[in-house]
Amino acid sequence: MDTSERYSVADISLADAGGLKVAWARSRMPALAALRAEAEDTQPLAGQRVAGCLHVTKETAVLIETLAAAGAEISWSGCNPLSTQDDVAAWLARSGYSVYAWYGQNSEEFYDSIDRTLEFKPTLTLDDGADLIYRVHTTYPELADSIIGGTEETTTGVHRLRAMGEAGELRYPVIAVNDASTKWDFDNVHGTGQSTLDGIIRATSVLLAGKTFVIAGYGHCGRGLAMRARGMGANVVVTEIDPLAALKAVMDGFRVMKMDEAAAIGDLFCTATGMKDVIVGRHFDSMKNGAIVANTGHYDCEINIPDLESRATNVYTIREDNEAFEMGDNRTIHLLARGRLVNLAAAEGHPSEVMDMSFANQFLALCTLAAEGLGYDNIVYDISAEQDRDLAALKLKAEGFSIDELTAKQIAYASDYSAGT
Ligand code: ADE
Repeated sequence: MDTSERYSVADISLADAGGLKVAWARSRMPALAALRAEAEDTQPLAGQRVAGCLHVTKETAVLIETLAAAGAEISWSGCNPLSTQDDVAAWLARSGYSVYAWYGQNSEEFYDSIDRTLEFKPTLTLDDGADLIYRVHTTYPELADSIIGGTEETTTGVHRLRAMGEAGELRYPVIAVNDASTKWDFDNVHGTGQSTLDGIIRATSVLLAGKTFVIAGYGHCGRGLAMRARGMGANVVVTEIDPLAALKAVMDGFRVMKMDEAAAIGDLFCTATGMKDVIVGRHFDSMKNGAIVANTGHYDCEINIPDLESRATNVYTIREDNEAFEMGDNRTIHLLARGRLVNLAAAEGHPSEVMDMSFANQFLALCTLAAEGLGYDNIVYDISAEQDRDLAALKLKAEGFSIDELTAKQIAYASDYSAGT
């Protein structure tokens, strides 16, 4: 461990390797680059201190340098004990940023790292899962008075914060970056779809074609994963608790059934629900020999690991992120990445191209809070439709795509309610 007042990272000598990865990500994040070029002149975050709690990846490094280029001071921790890319953390530390993150943190180290980011008394917070903002509210409430606002990256965190807002417990306003169309219709769908398969394949090298792949949850993330798994030749089964989502899955051509039924036929299982105890003891009892179980939701509560452990007669590691649980009845069940989000723990998270839009939204939301947040109520706000549209246009332009424009006649037609057959 390499530690100073300003950072705690696994190994600072990994900085060169991290720098190459960050350069790769930077070259694939053109929307954020365009925002950065503008912000270098206008300095919308001048004087702001941003505490971030979000996976320390090469894409996050590009966000951090963009925030700094816009005038902010930064202090950062990871938002999951198994998602920090140690080489990237080393590069951030060597580049002069405050960063407290390493792969394989225990719970105490995880919260201690968050606490260290709070020492510089942030004016803005950025969360992925709401652990940082929750820490401010429960442990350092006095800091809330000088915090203008916060942002939240993920579905699970937004749920937590909306519940806090509705209970009147939020001490400062939050912008739900997750709920922007330019975030969840892309990051949650295409990012999760690709990176989750990437993690599962890295941990197992299993052939997906012909396998029965059970996906719990058909929200944006589950849908993206189902699409990609089908594309790889898997027979996809969806489990749901929401009738509307289940119906969408049916009409998208997937088999829908209860987990009790799916447990017995699945070769692979992946949870994407945001809910605890989606796969529990009785499901493990009926799984086939060789079943592979993973989670891509934010927290590691979706698979009941104590239930699995209590049934196992022997547990050993087959390869990185792949543990074998012998069940004492000639069946072995494989748990990937200890039930933590497999796309970040066993792979590198979503690709840069899609994080480009998520992080452009983060950047714009923080700039909005810096400019207007003092006038906001202590509730959860959505990203404006205007920001969504502008960002989509920026991304298309940056990627070299052009689209048609309405003519004057078409604009008149669109508002002419007298025009029929
Ligand atoms: N969440 C999912 N993928 C990510 C990535 N590449 N960087 C940061 N957060 C992520």
